[in-house]
Amino acid sequence: MAVPGLDQLLAEGVRGARVFVRSDLNVPMHDGRIGDDSRIRASLPTLVRLTRAGARVIVASHLGRPKGKPSPELSLRPVAAALARLLDCGVSFSTDCIGPKAEAAVAELAPGQVLLLENLRFHAGEEKNDRDFAAALAALADVYVNDAFGTAHRAHASTAGMVPLVPRVAAGDLLRSELLHLRVVREPERPLLVILGGAKVSTKLAVMEALAPHADVLAIGGAMTYTFLAALNQPVGASWVERDCEGDARRVLAAAERAGRRLLLPSDHVVVQKVEAGAARRVVDAIPESWIGVDIGPRTAAAYAGEARRARTVFWNGPMGVFEIDAFAAGTEAVARGVAACRGTSVVGGGDSLAAVNRLGIGARIGHLSTGGGASLEYVQGLVLPGVAALEH
Ligand code: 3PG
Ligand code: MG
Repeated sequence: MAVPGLDQLLAEGVRGARVFVRSDLNVPMHDGRIGDDSRIRASLPTLVRLTRAGARVIVASHLGRPKGKPSPELSLRPVAAALARLLDCGVSFSTDCIGPKAEAAVAELAPGQVLLLENLRFHAGEEKNDRDFAAALAALADVYVNDAFGTAHRAHASTAGMVPLVPRVAAGDLLRSELLHLRVVREPERPLLVILGGAKVSTKLAVMEALAPHADVLAIGGAMTYTFLAALNQPVGASWVERDCEGDARRVLAAAERAGRRLLLPSDHVVVQKVEAGAARRVVDAIPESWIGVDIGPRTAAAYAGEARRARTVFWNGPMGVFEIDAFAAGTEAVARGVAACRGTSVVGGGDSLAAVNRLGIGARIGHLSTGGGASLEYVQGLVLPGVAALEH
């Protein structure tokens, strides 16, 4: 990446400069309480380096999908408190991210201090990449730093539109580190194993088509499984199937076969008649009429974990079943353990997979935990991320 990083920016000096940092502080929030705070923690190193260098640090992020209108439950105010605690310094908060309020808050910032702006997506201009909104953000800053890897796949005002309007730009440490680690999946030591889970074939289709010929082994789990089984005319019972994606699933299978790659589908399944905690479960090879698949079975879990142990590079995104319910989490957990046991390079991305890894307390055994779900999927399939491209121009 031909973009300056923080080293260069700090060498040139930022003392007293208004540095706008686009971070991805989009964390799970329930009743004003932060769930997993990994994204906040991962954003700290860049902020610490900038405050130590005497910058006036303006942090901006989105939270959730408020669709262009203020929505109190998606306020970033609780994140300001968390940042203050983790940075061990005062963090001021502006209830608007542009205009007089934001400008006044920036004017009050002393060198080395941090201000967090309210949710960027409270303005429709953010997601529309509106010029006037981008200009209003840019007016706050002398320097722009993008550290929001998790949002780098979005061409929004704060990730793209404002970038050419600020005189000095740089990539933050998190953004650089993510690209460095994920490049290993694009240019892997082989064999490369990709494990993809999650509910929808439709959202993972592009990545599967790109990775089926690239990965030595592509292992599929999660509810996507049943669309693949249906495409192969295998029994799916009452499992959730995206009927209009069966043709797409067949295309992915054909692409893997043409390239001489192995595409693995679960050979056994945990099934129930009602998707709820405490439901009676069975483990089956063929899903009976009226039963619903909720997890990969133990034989499949052991097979996927074994592939992970043998691979030189593993990339995993997406749960293997309805892992929010403990009784259906065994497959996801076995895969997480298998990925942690990989002797080569392991990379895990996506909120659900990270949650599983964190729940098991095995994060330290994974090579790289990506803060980006969608962004990491787009990057590893070789797409250009608009947030990165904007820095390069
Ligand atoms: C994410 O969590 O995927 C990123 O923060 C981007 O959010 P979005 O998917 O709502 O654009
Ligand atoms: Mg997303």
